[in-house]
Amino acid sequence: MKYTFYIYCISVFGFLNYMNQEKPLKQSIEDGSEIYQDFCLQCHLDNGKGVANVFPPLAQSDYLKNNLKASIRGVKYGLRGEITVNGKSYNGVMTKQGLDDEEVADVMNYILNNWGNKAEEQITESQVMQLEKI
Ligand code: HEC
Repeated sequence: MKYTFYIYCISVFGFLNYMNQEKPLKQSIEDGSEIYQDFCLQCHLDNGKGVANVFPPLAQSDYLKNNLKASIRGVKYGLRGEITVNGKSYNGVMTKQGLDDEEVADVMNYILNNWGNKAEEQITESQVMQLEKI
């Protein structure tokens, strides 16, 4: 009985350890690409350029670059109100897309490393988890 408990503890620990591991950036970007096609492309378009005055661009977006946390929050919880992206003002509504923290991290890594964008750091699931709604 004691032995079984011991085995149980080891496997739970092993599982938690496995769950805690972040996936490699390349894999995250690949997964993010699929999420982008399903959830974001309809507004921000395949080329990431969005639609002038309606849906802001993600490609070369200064907002995304300079307001990374706000952008992640926006994808996780939704974004509304006036923002300026590359000198153009937008005052629209992006509803939350219902992605879990891992999916938010993946899609962020995709948009941050596509269309000429280049992120300095990988967005991790735990970073997304820690972002609270404001
Ligand atoms: C229904 C249309 C729609 C969908 C779908 C959508 N967005 Fe948005 N997104 C918007 C609008 C509108 C804004 C600007 C909101 C505002 O004016 O405050 C925005 C803003 C943003 C911004 C910040 C501004 C910028 O251009 O840098 C990011 C980043 C972003 N969206 C990423 C995503 C990602 C990633 C997805 C998919 C998971 C997604 N969006 C899905 C409409 C959408």
